[in-house]
Amino acid sequence: MLKGRSLIEPADFSLEETDGLFALAEKIESDEQYLRESCRGKLLATLFFEPSTRTRLSFEAAMLRLGGSCLGFADPGSSSAVKGESLADTVRMAASYADAIVMRNPKEGAALLASNYSAVPVINAGDGGHHHPTQTLTDLLTIRRLRGDIKNITVGFCGDLKFGRTVHSLAKALARYEKITIIFISPEELIIPEYITRHLQKHNIEFTETRSLEEAIPQLDVLYMTRVQKERFFNEEDYIRLKDTYVLNKEKMALSKNDLIILHPLPRVNEIAVEVDGDPRAAYFKQAKYGMYVRMALLASILGVL
Ligand code: CP
Repeated sequence: MLKGRSLIEPADFSLEETDGLFALAEKIESDEQYLRESCRGKLLATLFFEPSTRTRLSFEAAMLRLGGSCLGFADPGSSSAVKGESLADTVRMAASYADAIVMRNPKEGAALLASNYSAVPVINAGDGGHHHPTQTLTDLLTIRRLRGDIKNITVGFCGDLKFGRTVHSLAKALARYEKITIIFISPEELIIPEYITRHLQKHNIEFTETRSLEEAIPQLDVLYMTRVQKERFFNEEDYIRLKDTYVLNKEKMALSKNDLIILHPLPRVNEIAVEVDGDPRAAYFKQAKYGMYVRMALLASILGVL
């Protein structure tokens, strides 16, 4: 039962609970009328202290499609945070107006802190470079929809693996599935953090690290491209030097398997050439749409309307 539960990192829900969400999301996708109006009278607060297109809009679309309503802010500059109000007080207020809170914040640990002060469930929509659990649900659902299951695959993560919270969340979550091999592809300065590799070792997940996308790509069943995260760099020169390290283009696609799945949490900048969008293996826009269905399943579950 997910009713009343917060989601701060993917492991907060068991594998069985996560599978249940995927099954529900698939049902919602196949029957647009299913659960329509189930959240009538419920309110979702969306507190975005950092920019977002997909996460905020897909949560709002999800709540509206379920018949509920949304309130909140997309820019902390329009909230009393600019007057110095603490996160704890902001969350207390939102919890007194709404039935659930979705929050994105630049500080690692902010979502966990929020859940300690909230009387209603808190969903982490990204806390700094730490976690993004609903993106992980989106990513896993996309793999399941396109392959039929989530096992026996080699997954490559490419780009900014140091700051990429979607990478951290998905890599940890994959450790719960069978026969997963991971290849981390990044420049030396943006390697995957040790707390993730320690987690993989603890769960006996085979992984390697490389600097070369060309070398790795022929082995992959799933390629998870990521943007170099400008907003997390202290030094613009370093960002400019690293931002175009990897560009997935037609030449590199020619080296890959015919059934490769290309994912990207989006937004993309230059790391996937637009010429790749028309390739049947490019699944990133489909992935963003699955995000809305899985968020509908999540909201219906935690609000207890099933
Ligand atoms: N994937 C993702 O988090 O996108 P947004 O930053 O647009 O929400």
